Amino acid sequence: MAVERRPEDMVRITTPELAQVFIDEQIKEIREQVGDKKVLLALSGGVDSSVVAALLIKAIGDQLTSVHVNHGLLRKGEPEQVIEVFRNQMKANLVYVDATDRFLDKLAGVTDPETKRKIIGGEFIEVFAEEARKLDGVEFLAQGTIWPDILESEEGIKAHHNAGGLPEDLDFELVEPIKILFKDEVRIVGEQLGLPHGMVYRQPFPGPGLGVRCPGAITRDRLEAVRESDAILREEFAKHGLEGKVWQYFTVVPDFRSTGVKDGKRAFEWSVIIRAVNTKDAMTAAVENIPFDLMCHLVERITHEVPGVNRVLYDFTPKPTGTIEFE
Ligand code: XMP
Repeated sequence: MAVERRPEDMVRITTPELAQVFIDEQIKEIREQVGDKKVLLALSGGVDSSVVAALLIKAIGDQLTSVHVNHGLLRKGEPEQVIEVFRNQMKANLVYVDATDRFLDKLAGVTDPETKRKIIGGEFIEVFAEEARKLDGVEFLAQGTIWPDILESEEGIKAHHNAGGLPEDLDFELVEPIKILFKDEVRIVGEQLGLPHGMVYRQPFPGPGLGVRCPGAITRDRLEAVRESDAILREEFAKHGLEGKVWQYFTVVPDFRSTGVKDGKRAFEWSVIIRAVNTKDAMTAAVENIPFDLMCHLVERITHEVPGVNRVLYDFTPKPTGTIEFE
């Protein structure tokens, strides 16, 4: 029987050896719980669901079906990485659903941030449920619940993102193999399972994805500008040793245009806002001091490489008064 709570005397997993002990125990427990039945997993490509997928593939192989829903709001290269790592390298049974049009059509013209979040969350469950109904004989749903999720839901800080939300006809038993781990332990276990370093140590990324970085109604051109500028920012931060040093960094493209000049002609285009912050718990955050030369280089690259953008701004606002995201 799997342990429901983190034992008080559990040794913190800090080494590959300790991670391996945990992995071996979990493989045994997963096999005992699941037997020869089928398991379903929503694989976002985030740290927690990726580690759960890798663990389950080791434990039950083909009995796991992972569903990766691309809502069109992922960062550049993310869906491709999920397919490469899980389908090509780990030989997972992966269902990839490109639902971009479906999400963007539903979001068209919607400006209120909370309504946008609700549409993205609701549509996600619907797409996932449709895929689940296509599969026969699934009895278990795997989830990347971790120990802080359980503590926070007990303390009433946030609702634990569990199966709650799936329609009633999809009545699965839960498999939650990392639910007694802290985040730092999940990462060590992930590396020991052979997941790429970049996937396991990636910065936090909100569920509604780039949707909350396109303030106001999402349009395809601004979404592309967010995705491309974010890719440039990540590439330059990695090159300049800021990856892993700065807690979260990203770009935002608000719904306003300003006058500029390109190639001697008037250019009435979008602005990219860069945000880079450090924090311990995301409740407060301090702005990162980006070297001026790097900032100039980022402006040069973004204004030349990202279509429809003529300005780059830096958000100097700590939290409070700003939140980390713009919506
Ligand atoms: P804020 O903007 O509230 O963000 O200062 C704090 C942290 O939470 C992330 N965030 C979200 N994560 N769904 C998520 O899964 C959301 O709707 C969401 N909103 C914000 C944000 O990226 C930051 O790390």
